[in-house]
Amino acid sequence: MTFLEKLRCLLTFGQGVALPLPEISENQDPFELFNLWFTEANKAGILLPEAMSVSSCGSDGQPSSRMVLLKEFDQQGFVFYTNYASKKSRQFSENNKVALLLHWNVLQRQVRIEGTVEKVSREQSANYFHSRDRGSQIGAWASKQSHKLKHDNELKERVAHFNKLYPQGEVPHPEFWGGWRVKPHYIEFWQGRASRLHDRICFEKSSDNNDKDHWQQFKLNP
Ligand SMILES: Cc1cc2nc3c(=O)[nH]c(=O)nc-3n(C[C@H](O)[C@H](O)[C@H](O)COP(=O)(O)O)c2cc1C
Repeated sequence: MTFLEKLRCLLTFGQGVALPLPEISENQDPFELFNLWFTEANKAGILLPEAMSVSSCGSDGQPSSRMVLLKEFDQQGFVFYTNYASKKSRQFSENNKVALLLHWNVLQRQVRIEGTVEKVSREQSANYFHSRDRGSQIGAWASKQSHKLKHDNELKERVAHFNKLYPQGEVPHPEFWGGWRVKPHYIEFWQGRASRLHDRICFEKSSDNNDKDHWQQFKLNP
């Protein structure tokens, strides 16, 4: 974080930042705006700016939220990686509607995303899996994510087991581990302002007769 950026944080925190949201103009691309905000969050020295909450709700109607790390995003959606047998993944298979939330406190910004989830390709998951450090790869094999531990040492024992099974060389990509892509139909950019007169700029997706996506833009009262 540069001195100027620190100064900006100091001067603006609690007061609303000086930079205005872009005025609504035709054909504004929400992914470009997301990219701009994400880049600024990365520059602001925020710890884990890619951390986001993902909320899901299975067929029992009970919502559940947890943090994950945003690893990739483009016009197709927002991707994170996890265990496909975890609670969240089980809920996604019952109900593919999800919500994401990113909060960058020093910038007084949040982004709300609503959409549906789909699995990324096996190839994309494998590529990401193999880019991770070895410890995380073994950890993915060892953790029966969201399932009850039978006893305190179970996880340690499973880590030892998989370290022995794959002592060196490439750790294979487990079938049960991979990425989920959130395909948004609503994205809202929230910018904190003085006197709680915050800006909320929203994008809602609609399709035309040719199935071409359009993003309708509007602002909401704070
Ligand atoms: C900052 C942060 C980042 C996290 N990133 C991930 C992630 O990318 N993938 C993941 O499976 N769990 C991640 N976790 C752990 C999850 O929050 C959660 O405990 C785990 O995925 C099990 O959730 P579930 O039982 O609802 O499926 C992260 C936790 C924190 C605090």
